[in-house]
Amino acid sequence: MSIEGKLAARVGPILSDGTPLRDLIDLDNHEVSMRVMYDPEIHRLELDRIFTRAWIPVGHESEIPEVGDFITRTIGEDPVIVTRTRDGDIAVLLNVCKHRGMEVCRTDAGNAETFKCPYHGWVYDNSGRLRGAPFEQDMYGKDWDKSRFGLAQARVATRLGVIFASFGPNTPPLDEYLGPMGWYFDQFFGGQPEFTVLGPPLEELTPSNWKLAAEQTMGDGYHQLTLHESARQLGFLPAGDDARSLGLDHIKIGTPEGHCLIGSGISFDYVQGDAELAEYQLPADWMQFIAVLFPATYLMCLAVPVEGGTAHHMSSGSYRPSGTGGLITSNLQVMGNNAPDGFAEQIRSIGSAGFGIVAAGDYDAWPSIQRVSGGAIGQTQTLKYNTFSGPSTPEGWPGPGTVYAGFSRDDNQWNFWLRWLEYLTTE
Ligand code: FES
Ligand SMILES: [Fe+2]
Repeated sequence: MSIEGKLAARVGPILSDGTPLRDLIDLDNHEVSMRVMYDPEIHRLELDRIFTRAWIPVGHESEIPEVGDFITRTIGEDPVIVTRTRDGDIAVLLNVCKHRGMEVCRTDAGNAETFKCPYHGWVYDNSGRLRGAPFEQDMYGKDWDKSRFGLAQARVATRLGVIFASFGPNTPPLDEYLGPMGWYFDQFFGGQPEFTVLGPPLEELTPSNWKLAAEQTMGDGYHQLTLHESARQLGFLPAGDDARSLGLDHIKIGTPEGHCLIGSGISFDYVQGDAELAEYQLPADWMQFIAVLFPATYLMCLAVPVEGGTAHHMSSGSYRPSGTGGLITSNLQVMGNNAPDGFAEQIRSIGSAGFGIVAAGDYDAWPSIQRVSGGAIGQTQTLKYNTFSGPSTPEGWPGPGTVYAGFSRDDNQWNFWLRWLEYLTTE
């Protein structure tokens, strides 16, 4: 049975006004109700059923190399502390005190054997175990069982240095979760001896729902023609008179797990068989690509020609919710360790300038859609995803997944909505 058929047969959950959630996605006409952008009940379901169940990247091992190192990150709207424990393992701890709920760690990064809650002073070690509290015998008696009050912990898995965490007890193992996208993931991170993260993430808050950013990044090449025209005039996007020279012919890859990849450096020539296969053989060699791991982690990669080879730069980040109408973009700059001296400074300035100029349009469009989706009539309108390329894997394609080639259509964005509905309708 197709995924659409499977989803059509599902009934729950039912929203408080009696609307089945499933009715907000029109599976026959490929339309999505704008209500999904502002409804607080849907937001709650997303936190419980998507962000809690997914594997979410929370950092890179190079950010916490020494015992005691820690960084603070967020899974959905749950703050976590990612630590290197005394045994050299990695722990991901919910940054919520078991006593009365204050965040026990209030800084972005550092090195600490213990975390002392600022409220009443309970002390946890960096594996999350409760170690003690001020005047604990006076307060709790001498038989206080501290083992019951450790910080909640997420499951942790790493792949090629990237740290993933999940609070879902039944989330499948990471490799299974990544599915065919794991092969591409290994190309980005395995193609270099090592990657280094350049400083802490840059975060910004925008008045938009997170899904507006996620579904666009999943594959909406079409919008760049209009929304990003000023970036094109400034030379940050390809110029030309036809789809090919404008960079609107791509290879996109989708997987059943909801992950995707857009190789915007791969021209339609490849599909037509005009280009050398070797030229495009591995994602690590592509000039530019964007990968998105469901629900909303993106990897934007740029291979920059430098003297004697190629240096790799990656912007890795996540879109995450902050309430129904808040989007936090958290972006890390990552560099291949084989890059020449001075490359880090170069990409810091080029990366942020390019991001600022190209993304300016997006950060205008998303809040605009968000504002109107709360209107009594606006909420009844739908977002349209009704043009598809269909699968067309070129002969000799080196990787797994479903390949969509040609003009940038809605295949991957629609796959995002199917996966979203599948998560939300799974008890
Ligand atoms: S809330 Fe943390 S010690 Fe009381
Ligand atoms: Fe954009």
